[in-house]
Amino acid sequence: MGKIILTGDRPTGRLHVGHYVGSLKRRVELQNSGEYDKIFIMIADAQALTDNADNPEKVRQNIIEVALDYLSAGLDPEKSTLFIQSQIPQLTELSFYYMNLVTVSRLQRNPTVKSEIQMRNFEASIPVGFFTYPISQAADITAFQATTVPVGEDQMPMLEQTREIVHKFNTVYGETLTMPDILLPDNKACLRLPGTDGKAKMSKSLGNCIYLSDSEEDVRKKIMSMFTDPNHLRVEDPGQVEGNPVFIYLDAFCRDEHFEKYLPDYKNLDELKAHYTRGGLGDVKVKKFLNKVIQEELAPIRERRKEFEKDIPAVYRMLEEGSKKAEAVAAETLAQVKRSMKINYFEDRALIEEQAKRFNSEA
Ligand code: TRP
Repeated sequence: MGKIILTGDRPTGRLHVGHYVGSLKRRVELQNSGEYDKIFIMIADAQALTDNADNPEKVRQNIIEVALDYLSAGLDPEKSTLFIQSQIPQLTELSFYYMNLVTVSRLQRNPTVKSEIQMRNFEASIPVGFFTYPISQAADITAFQATTVPVGEDQMPMLEQTREIVHKFNTVYGETLTMPDILLPDNKACLRLPGTDGKAKMSKSLGNCIYLSDSEEDVRKKIMSMFTDPNHLRVEDPGQVEGNPVFIYLDAFCRDEHFEKYLPDYKNLDELKAHYTRGGLGDVKVKKFLNKVIQEELAPIRERRKEFEKDIPAVYRMLEEGSKKAEAVAAETLAQVKRSMKINYFEDRALIEEQAKRFNSEA
């Protein structure tokens, strides 16, 4: 059986550093660890359409952006299968069968769906497809018999829902589906990176994201104008590091060797934090340091992106091949699911013979 990863992203925009520390960086490490037998990375366009039905062009445009972000972050098609969700018809078929195993009230209680409904002002008119996307996500995960799903914290309710479906399916139809585990970032700051404006989440619509594909200059500007502790007005003032996005980003990105290289007055982040808390350390100095740390991480990604951008047709070919491979795997799972549900009539010899007897026994 082995260890299998499945994860993915909705293609509704370019990926930002929140995606990167929350999941993408980890995927690359897992890919290169050699500990996994198969790795599937999915561009979830069908899921993106569940709340962008009237804007398919946005989804269409962002597929290539996300693919470029994946490749430049270090996902390697030789080691990981990169594919597009809508190209795997088995996923919709699985979803339809799983729908029978989930109640409406259970979906209504899903915290992620709840907050997304609020965010999109869907209250009065929730599209059915959107409402049921946790079920389709269970299909994504189980189609590949994933053991491990590396995602951000916001996806926890989706994993719980998937585990319930797996349990229910296996109980009703017999052991068929693999029970997946979530894999969260172990660095707490990486669970959910706030926006550059201090808002809880990076979001395209709030304009508070640092994108993996931003230019060096854009990144610098965004960092230098980041929100910090609003009460830290003068350098001498004591500052607060908790909830201060500049320090949260440092928690997520910086390592001791960065101090040696860029800010040798301090040994590590604890010392820097202590000075800021005491007072006497200005925001500009901290931001300049953060900028160096983040630029060091993003520069190679940006360089690789430029290379991949030179041959866009090759990126589509890679996705097409990945989708074919993914479809073959999903088809096997679907066949197994249908066998377990006994809706494999034409290969079920016993059924056909039994029915033949039933209709002809008196004769
Ligand atoms: N819901 C995920 C997101 O919004 C994307 C996604 C779709 C996904 N299917 C998945 C993630 C399966 C992990 C596993 O980012």
